Amino acid sequence: MTATAYTPTALPGHPHVVYRHGKLFLDGVDLNALAIEYGTPLFAYSAEAILAALAAYQRGLAGRDFMVCYAMKANSSLGILRLRAGAGCGFDIVSGGELDRVLAAGGDPAKVIFSGVGKTEAEMHQALTAGIACFNVESEQELEVLDAVARTLGLRAPVSIRVNPNVDAKTHPYISTGLKGNKFGIAHEHTLQVYQRADAMPGLRVVGIDCHIGSQITREEPYMDAMDRMLDLVEAIETAGIPIAHIDFGGGLGINYDGDQPPAADQLWPRLLKQLDARGFGQRKLLLEPGRSLVGNAGVCVSKVLYLKPGEQKNFCIVDAAMNDLPRPAMYQAYHAIVPLVQNNAPASVWEVVGPVCESGDWIGHERSLAVQRGDRVAVLSAGAYCMSMASNYNSRGRAAEILVSGASTQLIRRRETSQDQLRAELGTLPLAG
Ligand code: LLP
Repeated sequence: MTATAYTPTALPGHPHVVYRHGKLFLDGVDLNALAIEYGTPLFAYSAEAILAALAAYQRGLAGRDFMVCYAMKANSSLGILRLRAGAGCGFDIVSGGELDRVLAAGGDPAKVIFSGVGKTEAEMHQALTAGIACFNVESEQELEVLDAVARTLGLRAPVSIRVNPNVDAKTHPYISTGLKGNKFGIAHEHTLQVYQRADAMPGLRVVGIDCHIGSQITREEPYMDAMDRMLDLVEAIETAGIPIAHIDFGGGLGINYDGDQPPAADQLWPRLLKQLDARGFGQRKLLLEPGRSLVGNAGVCVSKVLYLKPGEQKNFCIVDAAMNDLPRPAMYQAYHAIVPLVQNNAPASVWEVVGPVCESGDWIGHERSLAVQRGDRVAVLSAGAYCMSMASNYNSRGRAAEILVSGASTQLIRRRETSQDQLRAELGTLPLAG
């Protein structure tokens, strides 16, 4: 008798999320067993997927002088930062709190760049003292303040100007930041003049130029357009006698949520490098600030079905994860796939998958076809980026626990937040018993 080999089935577009004999695994870990051990809602991340996503950038840029700075706002959990730092990755930060996290995770401050439109003087002081690689400056007033803070410290702050290249991510009306109407960056036509001002300030040292045109970009053209416009500016700035040591093309590469097929980083970058070479900038140092594409599809959120509530107009499937854990649907009408942890052949019904928070906006998925019972568990996919980092305590719900999966082994990287944790920062409260 010949035994037929069993082939586990990975979910399309989610190579690390696999059904084995009807049970959902993240790499070598049975998610149901994990949820029984740690409770729900629970975030689980594949270390292999996290490192593979970084490796795709490193492959795409091989042979060039480059630095990938993980936009840690996508997921700033220390366990994930440690993994990144260990792989030689740099970090794109947007607050003093993020810098503290990088340092706590053993990251190298010399590989940190600081983005954001509203850096405070205290944050500038902190980052200058830590010795970060570059400030991405977004306004003339910010330049003046940074110059003053650096001079009081007897330092020269390394700066890039963030340019708003006025490029539309076109077919993708998601999160666009590179258009004239956005609050970000300095208008393309004023850039040269701002560089001349920066160059004349004694507390500053011009080191680069920066842009970031938006997020969840699934096409190549917006990058091509932005690159062309950035290189025009580099030519103009250098002709005016100000050398630009590095060019930062920002982040923004999309991931698969709902069958999206963005180019892979190791395919996109060789094509962009051709354009860079053709314009004679192939040897220039390149910086990138990817966030979502480095972690988004590495994570899932496991949640339990609390109640089924069939109705006349809609059927509600109430799960224990909510908008405080998974804010993207409520904030951006975002789609996240939802799949059962155990496959069964029962007939499916169409559900509005919602959380327990007291808001009609607290939904996780509309019109999802699922065969589920009370007590079953589901996984919300593509939950590695902009979920836990945007989680809140709304409704005084403790934030979820997080697990890092490596092959078949697991590591608790954040324990579930307790009410004690939540009360700790508030004054005038009595300690809870126990
Ligand atoms: N650099 C800068 C200056 C940024 O503002 C951002 C993201 C990134 C890099 C990283 O972009 P990514 O590679 O992750 O697309 N919460 C929203 C996304 C907000 C993105 C904000 N900026 C969401 O959940 O879709």
